[in-house]
Amino acid sequence: MTKPANKTPPAILREDYLPPDYRIETARLHFDLGESRTIVKSQLAVVCSHDHSEGLRPLVLQGQGLKLLALKVEGRSLREKDYEITDEALTIWPETDHFTLDIETACDPGGNTELSGLYRATGMFLTQCEAEGFRKITYYPDRPDVLARFSTTIAAEREKYPVLLSNGNLVAAGELPDGRHFATWHDPFPKPAYLFAMVAGRLARIEDKFTTMSGREVALHIYVQNHNREKCRHAMDSLKQAMKWDEETYGREYDLDLFMIVATDDFNMGAMENKGLNIFNSKYVLAKSDTATDKDFQNIMGIVAHEYFHNWSGDRVTCRDWFQLSLKEGLTVFRDQQFMEDMTSPGVQRISEVNILRTHQFIEDDGPMAHPVRPDSYMEINNFYTMTVYNKGAELIRMCRTILGPEGFRKGTDLYFLRHDGQAVTTDDFVQALEDATGTDLTQFRRWYCQAGTPEIQVTRSYDALAQTYALTIKQTCLPTPGQPVKEPLHIPIALGLLDKSGADMPLQLVGEERPVAGTRLLQLREAAETFLFIKVPQEPVPSILRGFSAPLKVALNLTDVERRFLMAHDSDAFNRWDAGQQLALKLILSLVRDYQEGRPMALESKFIEAFRQILSKPTADKAFQALILTMPSETYLADALEVIDPEAVHEARKFVRQTLAGTLQETFLTVYRQNQDSGPYRLDQEATGRRSLKNVCLAYLMELADGEGRDICLRQFDQAKNMTDVMAALTSIANHAGREREEALATFYEKWQDDSLVVDKWLALQAASSLPDTLERVKALTGHPAFTLRSPNKVRSLIGAFATNQVRFHNISGAGYAFLADYILALDSLNPQIAARLASSFTTWRRYDARRQSLMQSEFERVLQAPKLSRDVYEIVAKSLNYV
Ligand code: TRP
Ligand code: ZN
Repeated sequence: MTKPANKTPPAILREDYLPPDYRIETARLHFDLGESRTIVKSQLAVVCSHDHSEGLRPLVLQGQGLKLLALKVEGRSLREKDYEITDEALTIWPETDHFTLDIETACDPGGNTELSGLYRATGMFLTQCEAEGFRKITYYPDRPDVLARFSTTIAAEREKYPVLLSNGNLVAAGELPDGRHFATWHDPFPKPAYLFAMVAGRLARIEDKFTTMSGREVALHIYVQNHNREKCRHAMDSLKQAMKWDEETYGREYDLDLFMIVATDDFNMGAMENKGLNIFNSKYVLAKSDTATDKDFQNIMGIVAHEYFHNWSGDRVTCRDWFQLSLKEGLTVFRDQQFMEDMTSPGVQRISEVNILRTHQFIEDDGPMAHPVRPDSYMEINNFYTMTVYNKGAELIRMCRTILGPEGFRKGTDLYFLRHDGQAVTTDDFVQALEDATGTDLTQFRRWYCQAGTPEIQVTRSYDALAQTYALTIKQTCLPTPGQPVKEPLHIPIALGLLDKSGADMPLQLVGEERPVAGTRLLQLREAAETFLFIKVPQEPVPSILRGFSAPLKVALNLTDVERRFLMAHDSDAFNRWDAGQQLALKLILSLVRDYQEGRPMALESKFIEAFRQILSKPTADKAFQALILTMPSETYLADALEVIDPEAVHEARKFVRQTLAGTLQETFLTVYRQNQDSGPYRLDQEATGRRSLKNVCLAYLMELADGEGRDICLRQFDQAKNMTDVMAALTSIANHAGREREEALATFYEKWQDDSLVVDKWLALQAASSLPDTLERVKALTGHPAFTLRSPNKVRSLIGAFATNQVRFHNISGAGYAFLADYILALDSLNPQIAARLASSFTTWRRYDARRQSLMQSEFERVLQAPKLSRDVYEIVAKSLNYV
């Protein structure tokens, strides 16, 4: 098939950036809210910002799906020939270098299914403006480098919409005729339109307060539907902890007298950092121990903190253009990760961050959508809210901190916030501030922002017993990515330690250095290959490379199994202790994959079982960490290590390992399970969550045995557990085993929780993730269930999204899973293109599979491309996957 050129939307290029021709000093908005027709009046104070000695340039305002009702300059109506209007913009030709512009438009919030712009959800009105949603509300220079002071008046029916909110402070409110009322809000901080927000609805308010480090009192309000008012405590506590932490760690104080969070069930992403009025997917606000898992509680804490931290890294200092997205997202993700490391177990937190990066970002970096942390071009910006921009972006910030040290880094961020407060800047400005504050040269480091792809370091070692020297030669390489055939060497911080025979860290001294350094030390790799020579090394050490995962890359180092087990037992770095185990398991499972493929019987060596048994039976203080070590690498991570992905072989090999461990160590699993039962009241502290995760890991292993005690224990836990963590752990295992009990348990669960939308999401997701052969049939049936609707992104993600990440069932060789997904991409495309595009990205790894699967996926892609009308969002993903653009 040839590419359908007529449909190709233009690429937006970073190098085409030009500063805006006009600034907006103030924006006064007036909303007259109606469900199918809302009238928006906007009064803008426009000031020319270009050199106009040669004449004034036209003023271009973006707008989409709007009906223009009136347009005035300095109070005088423009005639039709004085302006130009297209599907995307309104252009006028100013005659003076500053003027007042009045625009009146109408839009249809009730008909907005994209959940971008102004829309209605669960009886309320709300807005989502990032990245380019404001243009669906009114004509405006909708770009992040135009910062204005906003005042917003909202008028609506009092009975249905008693609560009226916008950014900043409430300055007026009152009654209007015909049962309507109004509220006026003023935000003193200039901001880009993407940070604008407005909410109207019948909502309950949970209140608290926080006293800032300078002694100001801030009111904290969380708004939810009335029946959810008991589920906000954890979000509120997390918010207060985040506020305090940001003061202590970064010196950042909150700047308004009021901070609000609104929760909604219908939301495209996790949450949004609108100034003073964060809007959240209710999944990341609402939690009680009987409805939310420990993981949910953790996510809430992290995301509440993330959005709050944006107040400085995003709102006070914002992005110049959308290519700079990682300026705010990379930095804010790093800040929320650091916060979670401080609030919970740092090792466990770091492992979960790296797991996300390695299983999802590495795959993105290796596929057709690979892009640098600071991309060079896009068709649809919504497709660039990616793991690369967010999570790899956070790793870049982490590397800067590693290179500068904590104090240097803090000096750097202080300078950054001081220098750029109230500005829209670039990732380069951020790096420059770090350099200026510390006198460090980060010229080469900047390449991390421009080069896509995951680098690999190859480490070779040689010990000279006579000279007592130890040489580490490190080579770096990075494969080509789309548009980047050749890569330059990066500046890579490599944290390492060398373990002596007792397992202790040796003092480390590089040749030319005067004194040794104790414990972990930093190597800075800058060349394509470098040798680091350690002196006064009395015995051959075991190297522990890339401690704490100090750089986002792959490591090739030929450690023996004995050395890996040694690191697992002794490494002072928790991350590397865990990773040594993962690499052992990876190697083992990959060899079983080959056995399976070649029809040989699979077998597990006793050394592996023994090492596993030791970890399982040794009482450990950090049980969450113990649980992680006992968890085999995910199917996705295993698959990524194969030249050609064989989902079935990966699934069978991993299952074989789990079953063999369960069979051999059944008694030990049972003992550890029982020892970690908790009969007391629910607690969320580390000790209690650690016990639950360890216990539930044991349960899942026990459930691998067809005729063991696991089944009874699991059913008992399902019946008796009072918290959702334990209930879900049991139900997940039950859903992976056919039989009457499964049907009964699923039915009982639904019966009990059918009115709790977030719990129903879990019920859908665990069925879609089941490895049983009937999963696709079940998922298809569930699309017709009353609980499911295409209009709710959470429901779509829970059912269709979870199925698309179910390696073994989605990639079934029949191709039925592919056809199913393509049908839903097409059905969603006209309703909510952002969500449709997210689903489409499940297909982007298609070249990693065998020829048969490749061609099945490819034909589904082509079917999608045939659709008479396709959004830019989906088009970009599909066309780039097929190399058409
Ligand atoms: N900026 C938000 C965050 O990282 C996420 C976001 C971007 C978003 N675009 C969105 C949220 C669209 C909802 C809808 O916190
Ligand atoms: Zn963010």
